[in-house]
Amino acid sequence: MRALTWHGKRDVRVDTVRDPEIVNPRDAIIKVTSTAICGSDLHLYNGLIPALTPGDILGHEFMGEVVDVGKDNKKLKKGDRVVVPFVIACGHCFFCEKQLYAACDNSNPADKADISEMLYGHRAGGFFGYTHLTGGYAGGQAEYVRVPYSDVGPIVVPDGMEDDEVLFLSDILPTGWMAAENCEIKEGDTVAVWGCGPVGLFAVQSALIMGAGQVIAIDHYPHRLELARKFGAKAVNFRNTHVYEALVEMTGGIGPDAVIDAVGMESHGFAVDNLYDYAKQKVMLETDRPHVLRQALYACRKGGRVSVPGVYGGFVDKFPAGAFMQKGLTLRTGQTHMQRYMPKLLDLIREGKVDTTFLISHRLPLEQAPKGYHKFAFEQNETTKVVLKPGMQ
Ligand SMILES: NC(=O)c1ccc[n+]([C@@H]2O[C@H](COP(=O)([O-])OP(=O)(O)OC[C@H]3O[C@@H](n4cnc5c(N)ncnc54)[C@H](O)[C@@H]3O)[C@@H](O)[C@H]2O)c1
Ligand SMILES: [Zn+2]
Ligand SMILES: [Zn+2]
Repeated sequence: MRALTWHGKRDVRVDTVRDPEIVNPRDAIIKVTSTAICGSDLHLYNGLIPALTPGDILGHEFMGEVVDVGKDNKKLKKGDRVVVPFVIACGHCFFCEKQLYAACDNSNPADKADISEMLYGHRAGGFFGYTHLTGGYAGGQAEYVRVPYSDVGPIVVPDGMEDDEVLFLSDILPTGWMAAENCEIKEGDTVAVWGCGPVGLFAVQSALIMGAGQVIAIDHYPHRLELARKFGAKAVNFRNTHVYEALVEMTGGIGPDAVIDAVGMESHGFAVDNLYDYAKQKVMLETDRPHVLRQALYACRKGGRVSVPGVYGGFVDKFPAGAFMQKGLTLRTGQTHMQRYMPKLLDLIREGKVDTTFLISHRLPLEQAPKGYHKFAFEQNETTKVVLKPGMQ
């Protein structure tokens, strides 16, 4: 089959690779009909997350048709159309029982788990197409993919719903939703969201649904800010506005009740600490560039909530522990516990309460995936989301 494979920093290629097969009785094989490129894939593309091997298949946002099922899978059958969450979870371990699916203790195989155990103190969960830190599973930017524990993750798509409507249940919609939920929003709260990429834009929508009185969206790409504005957010362009001062002014002097870092380890900008982070990252003295995390902690009101869906991979410098402690902030974060949110969000899409189709700027054949990566990485203003179609010529 054909699949998008990683070969090094900013070097991804569509290669012919071996077809996947059923390995365990709870597996399924999916013929992919749509698969998207995520901001998380850019961290791999930019060579910032370790533990990839040349030839690894990327992709963790995908959906398609079930073409084979293992004998112990009682949930799926051939022909089902499913959306697959990026998180692989067994459904029965200590963490899955608590619905902390992204922390599943069984999905990252023992022979891979020691890398993440060393880095994080405990093994990471298993994710599709996301390095050997998270299981080394082949991803879904491919014609076919093996889905382990496929009786837990995939959700069957109701008849009549298009791929474009439901594809983002695989990651970014639940991620934006959990980011807003982690803000514990009370009616009328002000929520500031850094980053108007797909995750930030779904966090904006989710915060408004959850009752936020004012959502302030921060980015430097005018088109992305415009999308946030269409949902009712107030836009702040950090290129021409002092973010902290704007937030203080827009909240009567006290700061936002909750803040969301939907940017993660690759903050842009030219503030002094941005330049410091760029330099330290270049010489590998710091793995991540946490400018937004610092700014969010600094701007949040006393006693406020800080939600971090943005991905951090390793270690950061100049974490403002003083602001965090002295203001009594609450910090919540994590890879999204996908399976917890997918059914409810599917209902919200069906009821027309969440808009998922506004985001797609490019639909490309799988063969053009390298072009899609380049656009999503370097033309971010106009490239809001790239969907790859393995069946498209
Ligand atoms: N927690 C999870 O489970 C999960 C799931 C999916 C994605 N993510 C992470 O969420 C983050 C966002 O993903 P995405 O797909 O929206 O990515 P993206 O790259 O499309 O968007 C990031 C946005 O942040 C903006 N930005 C950069 N520096 C900024 C700054 N200083 N201030 C304000 N905005 C700034 C960029 O201009 C861009 O629009 C990534 O780190 C991704 O890895 C996490
Ligand atoms: Zn993703
Ligand atoms: Zn589990």
